[in-house]
Amino acid sequence: MTTLRARDLHAGYGDLAVLHGATVELVGGRLTTIVGSNGSGKTTLLRTLTGLIPATSGDVELDGRPLGRLRAHERARLGIVLVPEGRQLFSDMTVLENLEMGATGPRGRASMSSTLDEVYALFPRVAERRRQVAGTLSGGEQQMVAVARGLMAKPSVLILDEPSLGLSPKVVLDLFEIVARLRGTGLTMCLVEQNVRLALAIADDAYVLRHGRVEIAGPAHVVRDMPEVQAAYLGG
Ligand SMILES: Nc1ncnc2c1ncn2[C@@H]1O[C@H](COP(=O)(O)OP(=O)(O)OP(=O)(O)O)[C@@H](O)[C@H]1O
Ligand SMILES: [Mg+2]
Repeated sequence: MTTLRARDLHAGYGDLAVLHGATVELVGGRLTTIVGSNGSGKTTLLRTLTGLIPATSGDVELDGRPLGRLRAHERARLGIVLVPEGRQLFSDMTVLENLEMGATGPRGRASMSSTLDEVYALFPRVAERRRQVAGTLSGGEQQMVAVARGLMAKPSVLILDEPSLGLSPKVVLDLFEIVARLRGTGLTMCLVEQNVRLALAIADDAYVLRHGRVEIAGPAHVVRDMPEVQAAYLGG
C-alpha cells in the first residue's frame, strides 16, 4: 500500500502565498480527510500534492521517494490521481468515453476492460448510463462518473476534492457509501469535504487546515470529539 507524505509545503499563486508549511501524511490503505473553512487552502494543497502547481518549498514523497518537480501527468503515472472540484467531465462525450479517457498511463491502459467491469459493479447507475452524453446526466450521476473516471487510472492514491458539492443529501450518502467501500481495498484515499460531520465519520485520519497550515491532526474520531472542532465546524 502506498503512502503519500508532504512535509512543510509552501505554495500559492504568483505573489499570493496560500500554503504556509503544511505537513500531511496519507497513510497507505487509509482514508484521510482534510477539512477547513472556505479559502483555507484545501484545494491548493491537493493541487500541490498532485503536481498541478509547484511547491515553492517543501517535499512530497511517495513511499519515501521524493517527487521533486514531477508534473501532474507524471505523478498520475505513478498512481496519484485527483478527482477535481467541479467534476470537469467532457460534457459532449458519452459516459463510456469519459471513462476511457480516465484509463491513462500504463496501469490504466493495461487493464481497461477489467477495470471497467469493476467500476460498473461499484456504480451500477454509471453502467446503465454508459451511452448517455455526460453533460445531460444529473449532478449526482456526473459526480459518480467523475469518481469512476478517477478509478479507471488504477490509482494507488485517489484524491477527491469536494465530491458532495451541490448534491442532495441522499446522493451524498450513496456516494459516501461507495467511498467507504473503497476504503479497505488497499487504496489510499484522501477526501476534502465541506460536510465535516460525514467526513469525520467515515475517515480514519483527519487534518484541519486553517490559513494554509495544519491546525489539528489526528485519528478522525479523536478530531471529531475535540471541543474546538465541535464549536468551529460541527455547530456544537
Ligand atoms: N488559481 C488561483 N489563482 C489565484 N488565487 C487562487 C487560485 N486558486 C485559489 N486561489 C486563492 O487561494 C486561496 C485558497 O484557495 P483554495 O481553493 O485552496 O481554498 P479551499 O480551502 O479549497 O476553499 P473551498 O472550501 O472554497 O473550496 C483563496 O484565497 C483563493 O482565492
Ligand atoms: Mg476547494
